[in-house]
Amino acid sequence: MADSRVRTATTPPLLEPSAWHEIELEVNGEIVGAQVESRLLLVDFLRHRLGLTGTHVGCEQGSCGACTIIIDGQASRSCLAFAVQADGASIRTVEGLAPSGAPLNRLQEAFHTEHGLQCGFCTPGFLMSLTALEESGEVGKESIEEHLDGNLCRCTGYVNIKKAAHKALLGTSEEAAR
Ligand code: FES
Ligand code: FES
Repeated sequence: MADSRVRTATTPPLLEPSAWHEIELEVNGEIVGAQVESRLLLVDFLRHRLGLTGTHVGCEQGSCGACTIIIDGQASRSCLAFAVQADGASIRTVEGLAPSGAPLNRLQEAFHTEHGLQCGFCTPGFLMSLTALEESGEVGKESIEEHLDGNLCRCTGYVNIKKAAHKALLGTSEEAAR
């Protein structure tokens, strides 16, 4: 006879059919189809399923900006979205800025020449955030400040990052240096 003091836990089957979803999306211009588990984060899908490890994971709670990518034209935290939510979306990651073998784009080049990075962990997030700003057509000193505020860097003190952003987006790094 069953012991009434023992509670029996019900465990969903490991391969619960409703926990899996077919998705199709565009990533850096390529159409990708995949079967993803409900709980799979978008950043983990990009890094572990597609091998796009340029998108970094820092805080996993939307604070640091290291995982910033562009979803349908908007800079977005990929640690705050599930892969299944990206079904039908158009996504760009840092790998899409300068495909393998292509020269660095203007923003990347400015980060290089203005020494806007040390370890580089935060750099993809800054680049994607600033790319979204550039493409929004709302580039200005204030909007650059606002976009840089959303990303954390533990190395540079931001001066050179600001210089790089100003150089690439406004054509001068003078103002940011003061
Ligand atoms: S890892 Fe996404 S904001 Fe920090
Ligand atoms: S360059 Fe190291 S965290 Fe920004």
